Amino acid sequence: MKVLLIGSGGREHALMWKLSKNPKIKDFISIPGNGGMDGLGKSVSLDLSNIFEIADFAQSNDVDFTIVGPEVPLVEGIVDCFTERGLLAFGPSREAARLEGSKSFAKMIMEKYRIPTGKAATFTSYEPAKRYIESISMPTVVKADGLAAGKGVTVCFEKSEAINALRECFIDNRFGKAGETVIVEEYLEGEEVSLLVFTDGKDIIPLHAAQDYKRIFDGDKGPNTGGMGCYSPVPFVNESLIQEILEKVIEPTVFGMQKEGCKYRGILYTGLILTEKGLKVLEYNCRFGDPETQVLLPLMKSDLLEIMRATVDGSLKNQRLEWEKGCCITLVLASKGYPGKYQTGIEISGIEEASKMDDVFVFQAGTKLSDGKVLTNGGRVLNVSAVGTGYKQAREKAYQAAAKIDFKGKYNRTDIGLKAVKFSGGEN
Ligand code: GLY
Repeated sequence: MKVLLIGSGGREHALMWKLSKNPKIKDFISIPGNGGMDGLGKSVSLDLSNIFEIADFAQSNDVDFTIVGPEVPLVEGIVDCFTERGLLAFGPSREAARLEGSKSFAKMIMEKYRIPTGKAATFTSYEPAKRYIESISMPTVVKADGLAAGKGVTVCFEKSEAINALRECFIDNRFGKAGETVIVEEYLEGEEVSLLVFTDGKDIIPLHAAQDYKRIFDGDKGPNTGGMGCYSPVPFVNESLIQEILEKVIEPTVFGMQKEGCKYRGILYTGLILTEKGLKVLEYNCRFGDPETQVLLPLMKSDLLEIMRATVDGSLKNQRLEWEKGCCITLVLASKGYPGKYQTGIEISGIEEASKMDDVFVFQAGTKLSDGKVLTNGGRVLNVSAVGTGYKQAREKAYQAAAKIDFKGKYNRTDIGLKAVKFSGGEN
């Protein structure tokens, strides 16, 4: 079987690593891939923004199954492009991917299908949005409607910050089309949790819950990043909370999407917040989380390819997900300066040594291979994941492995997983 994986991050390396365990895959291609993915198959350098070219490539190379990692090609309709050519691709259609691609669409679905979420108002021009900000109390959250590479959400404690965020969208055009519509949303407080499910549009299979660390510095300080670490499962997300999330959020979303004529197939990622008034949805994503994937897949016992194929062909009801015991923690090793400016092309040492440790998996993100050396090629460079019987043990292993890896300017948070140790009562 010939399989194609689209993307180049730690998420995609983890997906390729897990999928490669299926012996049916004889030929594995990634577009564009990274230093780690290059070791698991062939990488082809095509522009991710040209979804037609990628579909042409898959067609002319007789690719049997394609997995799309990042949101941008999904929101642009890459799965429709493949389907029109009779090719199988894992991920939602363009219409269904609006759950991530348009925050106002997502809010409409949540409101219509009574899915718990923060109160929000939608605006398409500056003046009415500004008048609204003047009439409400702070804090509030201003969100660009479309995809903005994680930069379109501003938490505002002062009215001036909120008005400035509106200006960036409507007047400065900072996010282009993505900022032509703006959502002003209630600020919610509580623990955040990610729950991802496979769905074929009818049946639903949840993965373990995960909790990621979005800020750059210890203690959740500093600017937001793509994610600096993660752990799974989450001690306080028990079976009854998972059931509640399924009943109040996932099932009405999947049902609502079907009712709206845009059946959702693929991974549905819900970003949730557990407030004093109950759970609420912060956001949907139409793909695997990054770095959630890097902690979920080392714990997954079941074959990933089979479950993905069942998701695409609508036979998910015949599948079950089995999990290893224990927990997994991942640390992100980043380039100095990230999420701002940083250098690339710096040689990385110690990946092999760290990977030799039991239950340690080094997933590469911003890397490239050059003359047999692994070089930095992005802000988030590596994910060091470790599985342990408890959070303390997994954490120690991950930090020991990370210490074996070096590159000039290497930066990582030192408190990843501490919350899990605390929530689980400090058990090993
Ligand atoms: N972990 C956040 C995301 O994948 O968007």
